Formats: sequence, structure tokens, C-alpha cells
Amino acid sequence: MTATTAPSSNGKVFDKSVGVAVLGMGTVGTEVLRLIAENPNAYANRIGGRIELKGVAVSDLSKPRPGVDPALLTDDAEALINRDDVDIVVEVIGGIEYPRKLILQALQAGKSVVTANKALVAAHASELGEAADKAGVDLYFEAAVAAAIPVVGMLRRSLAGDQIQRISGIVNGTTNFILDAMATTGATYEDALAEATRLGYAEADPTADVEGHDAASKAAILASLGFHTRVTFDDVHCEGITNITAEDIAAASEAGYTIKLLAICEKLVDENGNKSVNARVHPTLVPNEHPLATVDKSYNAIFVEAEAAGRLMFYGNGAGGAPTASAVLGDVIGAARNKVHGGRAPGENPYANHPIADFGEVTTRYHIDMNVVDRLGVLSLIADHFAKAGISLRTVRQEEAEDETVARLIVVTHEALEKDLRAIVTELEGTEDVLEVRSVIRLDV
Ligand code: NDP
Ligand code: HSE
Repeated sequence: MTATTAPSSNGKVFDKSVGVAVLGMGTVGTEVLRLIAENPNAYANRIGGRIELKGVAVSDLSKPRPGVDPALLTDDAEALINRDDVDIVVEVIGGIEYPRKLILQALQAGKSVVTANKALVAAHASELGEAADKAGVDLYFEAAVAAAIPVVGMLRRSLAGDQIQRISGIVNGTTNFILDAMATTGATYEDALAEATRLGYAEADPTADVEGHDAASKAAILASLGFHTRVTFDDVHCEGITNITAEDIAAASEAGYTIKLLAICEKLVDENGNKSVNARVHPTLVPNEHPLATVDKSYNAIFVEAEAAGRLMFYGNGAGGAPTASAVLGDVIGAARNKVHGGRAPGENPYANHPIADFGEVTTRYHIDMNVVDRLGVLSLIADHFAKAGISLRTVRQEEAEDETVARLIVVTHEALEKDLRAIVTELEGTEDVLEVRSVIRLDV
């Protein structure tokens, strides 16, 4: 922190300034720099000191960077974060190993860090949190989950006095954009993904979005904060949207459902009162009248169920440069305030240390779509398999298939254990009556 006497627009003179280094100037970094450039006085008043941009690290110095003083640009991020006049490091590069190294260096050097990097936080929250604690500085990552929706701060601060039971919702803008476009405009998966990438929603490698990894990282962060338990990316059961076909979407629509990729974090309590936590990401059938069904484009929505607060819902922009930059700047201002006035943001606190429940122990309902041999008695034979497995059926629908020897059977179950469901699907696939299990989609809202 350095002394300064520059006045703000309301004439107030601030005698301190906070040096900020921004690492990365892509979709998010560009918008972070725009907000810093456009709001110096408002931020100075909110902080009680001015933000001074000390440098911007990029990978390719030859790219045009309109609006940024070329003297601020560097391709040496390490040298930038180690400068004495840098107090806060903003990491918006992406990836894991390189930003991990940079952030650890920054924290060890006493700089507070703001990152939008969910993959990194989900994999290394404890290491980064410990480094921040040791140095007595802040580690903020609001933008890492659901971009503009302030869910991290809400879990860390606003709901700190409550007991959270479940956090669920849409936390990936790219996959929501794709599923919505396929359902409402008939766009192909490929075209919708290309458009989400063009709009800056997708990760540098969009596999992370469509395979559910990005949502799984966010689920790990939400579960860790909500349940005060260390949940990492590897603890999250993860299925993406790559197997969802236009046919699945049409069948869901006919039955009154919309397919959404949901992240679900749940506290489970067994018959002896023992608690465990589960976090999972998978496509889910959402009834059309449920609020999540109407979340379109790249919007995100998150439900939090807490003992005292009850049910809360958060909705907003879940991806894109400006919405993410809004969350980043909120963190920068928090970290800068602490630099000026002292104090620290609440950090990770995994004191509850609940065990991670296996996905097989989770109960939910299932929509199973299969092709069966169209002959007398097949329906009751299949119902019998479910009954023997202790899985009760809620609805059964039979439809004609193109081949008249085949019938399409769509079964919706009552709540059942995931492990029992998997066992019955394997059993059905092994019978002569079931020609193909076309899809199994959970109903989990
Ligand atoms: P981009 O790929 O658009 O930008 C990455 C930036 O990092 C580029 O400016 C690139 O430089 C720079 N960079 C790459 N390698 C280095 C390096 N070795 N040294 C210095 N700079 C480097 O990514 P996004 O802006 O989309 O995402 C950044 C982070 O924010 C990711 O962690 C992402 O998960 C997260 N995030 C993104 C959201 C979004 O909607 N896009 C939303 C929420 C979080 P150059 O410009 O020279 O190529
Ligand atoms: N790729 C991410 C998404 C960016 O689509 O949600 C926001 O975290």
C-alpha cells in the first residue's frame, strides 16, 4: 500500500492506495480492466483508498489490447506479482498448475488474491486457504461459482448462522445455453456450443463444460462452503450433457419436462443420525412448472435449503465477461478494504468434516426409456423386475416404435437408491425382453 493525495470526484482526498495486478486479459480480464478504468472514484470511496493498476500479465504481448496502457503489459506474471507495490493479485488466466504456482507465490509474499478459477479452487482449496491463513491475507473466489450470482459470499457470510441441508441448481452457463437452444430453437448441439464459445461463456477447453467438470468444480466449492467439509472435484459424481440427444429433449418435452444439467449438494442423515455429504452433477428432468425449467440461455439459478432460512433461490448471469468481472471487482474491493482498514475475509472452515457419501447411497426418481420386445405379457415381466428390486413405479407409458416387433417403454420410478437403480438397469439389459435401455435420466428437484 502506498501513500497518495489524489482527490476523488466528491473532493475527498485518500491518503492510501492499493496496488492491483491483473493476470490474464481474456474474456474476464478485459472486463475487469474496463470496470477498474471506468469507476475509479466510486471504488476509492467504497474502499477508502484508490485502486492503482500496477500491471497486466498476458501470454502474447503482440495481440492488440485497446484501452490499456502498453507500459502496463507484461508476459512475466511472476515478476509482476512479486513487485513491492502490488497488494492484490487478480488471477483470471485459467488452468490449474500455473495459476496455482502464481497464487501460492502471491499469498506467500503477503498479497491478497482474487480468482475466478473454479477448477483450481475445487482441486486445491485447502492448500491455498492454508497459505492465505499463514500469510494473514485474503483469498477471494466469488466469481468461481455462477459468475455474477453472489452465492459464495452468501454461504460464507450471510448464511454463516444457519445449517444448510441442500444446495442445488444450474451452475454452468454453457450447458444451459446449449440445452435451451436445442429445446427452443431446434439448434444442433454443435451449433449451440459454437455460439456459447463465441459469446465467451465456454471454458478455454469446452470439454470442461459439456462433460460436467466445470459444474462439478462449482459443486465441490458450494458443498465445501455449505457443509463446512472439504469436498474436492474428485469427490463429485459427474455426468455431462454429451449423451443427451435431440430425441431425449423431445421426449422430455412431450412428458412435460425440461432437461437441465444440475449440480446437487446434499447433506444425508442415516437412520442412526450420522451425517454425510454428497455432491453430484448430472442431467435432470425438471417439471416444466418448476422455476429451474424457465432458466434459459446462459443464466444460472441456485436453490439453497437451510434449516432456519428455509428455501432461498438465486438467479442471474452465470457466465460471460462483464457478469464475472462484477463478482471479481466485488472481491477486489473487499480485499482492498481489508488492506486499507485491516481485517480479513472469512476463509475456509471445514470443521464439520463430514464423510463423503457414495453416489450409490443417494435416492432420487428415475425416467427410464427403453426398447422392449412387443409381445404379450412383456409389460408385467418388466414391472416384475422392478418389484423384485424393491423399486416402485410411478408411471409406465408404452409407445409404438417404427419396427412393429418393438415397443418403446418409458418408466418413471418412485424414489430409489442409485445403487439399486444401476443394478436393475444392468439386469434389464441382460434380459431378452429389453432390446436397449435408451436413456436413464434422473428426476431430482
Ligand atoms: P480466456 O481464455 O479468455 O483468457 C485467458 C487469459 O489468460 C488471456 O488473456 C491469456 O493471454 C492469459 N494467459 C494465458 N496464459 C498466460 C500466462 N502464462 N501468463 C499470463 N497470461 C496468460 O479465459 P476467460 O477470461 O474466459 O477465463 C479466465 C478464468 O475465469 C478461468 O479460470 C475461467 O474458468 C474463469 N471464469 C470464466 C468465466 C467466463 O464466463 N468466461 C466465468 C467465470 C469464471 P492472451 O490474451 O495473451 O492469450
Ligand atoms: N464456462 C463457465 C460456464 C463459465 O459456462 O458456466 C462460468 O463459470
